[in-house]
Amino acid sequence: MEPMKVVLSDDEIPRQWYNVMADLPTPMSPPLHPGTGQPIAAQDLAPVFPMNLIEQEVSTERWIDIPEPVLEKYLLWRPSPLCRARQFEKVLDAPVRIYYKNEGMSPAGSHKPNTAIAQAYYNKVFGIKRLSTETGAGQWGSALSMACKMFGLQCRVFMVRVSFEQKPYRRLMMMTWGGECISSPSDRTRAGRQILAENPDSPGSLGIAISEAIEDAVGDETARYSLGSVLNHVLLHQTIIGLEAQKQLAKIGEYPDVVLGCAGGGSNFAGISLPFVRDKLHGKQVEIVAAEPTSCPTLTRGPFAYDFGDTAMTTPLLPMHTLGHGFLPAPIHAGGLRYHGMAPIVSHLVKEGVVEARAFNQIETFTAGVQWAQTEGFIPAPETNHVIAAVVQEAERARQEGKEKVILFNWSGHGIIDLPAYDAFFSGKLTPYELPEEEILKALESIAGLPKP
Ligand SMILES: Cc1ncc(COP(=O)(O)O)c(C=O)c1O
Repeated sequence: MEPMKVVLSDDEIPRQWYNVMADLPTPMSPPLHPGTGQPIAAQDLAPVFPMNLIEQEVSTERWIDIPEPVLEKYLLWRPSPLCRARQFEKVLDAPVRIYYKNEGMSPAGSHKPNTAIAQAYYNKVFGIKRLSTETGAGQWGSALSMACKMFGLQCRVFMVRVSFEQKPYRRLMMMTWGGECISSPSDRTRAGRQILAENPDSPGSLGIAISEAIEDAVGDETARYSLGSVLNHVLLHQTIIGLEAQKQLAKIGEYPDVVLGCAGGGSNFAGISLPFVRDKLHGKQVEIVAAEPTSCPTLTRGPFAYDFGDTAMTTPLLPMHTLGHGFLPAPIHAGGLRYHGMAPIVSHLVKEGVVEARAFNQIETFTAGVQWAQTEGFIPAPETNHVIAAVVQEAERARQEGKEKVILFNWSGHGIIDLPAYDAFFSGKLTPYELPEEEILKALESIAGLPKP
């Protein structure tokens, strides 16, 4: 019988993360100081992040050891299984073998604890007492609340208002793990109060919540800010996913033709794909595809430009695909994909043609997600539905080309706490929304005067 899942034993867990910065064929543009427009110095970031994570952010070491206390926590659920989606393959009726990493098995239900645990650990070692962060869908906020509790830190989470209202259970998860969850925009910060004064009904956005969390952190010497995606060190921690997948595929003598992930800020996509990017840069034939929503098409329709990571323009200027920091994404149910920017590493790889991006609308993604649930059982998070839609498309292509393909993708999280989104889909309330060109042009006005990479 062909294997349905490949598991690694505890002692086969990778002991190092992979840093793609060591292998990039062309250099990335540096982040710029928002005041001076000059490349940012490590010291400039010190009020925001602990120095040990800043060192990782700028590191060009290819392999970085995973500290023992982090590995110990990873072993609560890692190595995550590599599963074969045989029932899904049957309904797609295409010449494909589909493998996926099930990151929904973590205590918080997604890939987010892979970096939450690492970040909580490094902050603890640096002597920090409290972390402040933002969350979209609530996946990140719950993961960080759990990680902080494990390492004895306090955690404050600014949750995008539309998700705060749509997802009360995520807030309760944060509370269960001892985190404090605040609806954003809030009256706790200057940035939040300013947004509320302009628009009391603002649905919030990740950009606004980031501004609030940074302001909250830099105002308290014992606190630091923590980001769940986008930054180099976050992507680094997520590479454990792809590294495990490589070991697991090698055990059964498989290698993927295509590697896919959904992309909000780019962390789970990078997590599964960067070890394969390394292979590709060394001559392997492998397609690497990021799936994003048509309502927030950062990679497929946003220019590659310098932009702020947040709405209040407090972060360094990052070289990335962006829809402009003033962009307020439509309140789609995939809250974790509602971000105006994208990880600089992922943006760079798209710009260089190493990685490809495709966009899918909500109807396509929920149709694929329901088909998945009805065959493979596990109910995917709305974000994860985007990559499943891309897998469906890939299978269709294989059928049309009459070519056998091995597909590997990252099943980034489960949707058990996102069932109201499924309710909206079943009752016909979702639309195949595509961001109109005028809105993109309007949103991009906010980056018109910024330096160009
Ligand atoms: C389940 C799930 N998948 C994907 C994402 C998108 O984030 P990223 O692109 O950083 O992986 C999120 C973000 O909250 C998420 O919760």
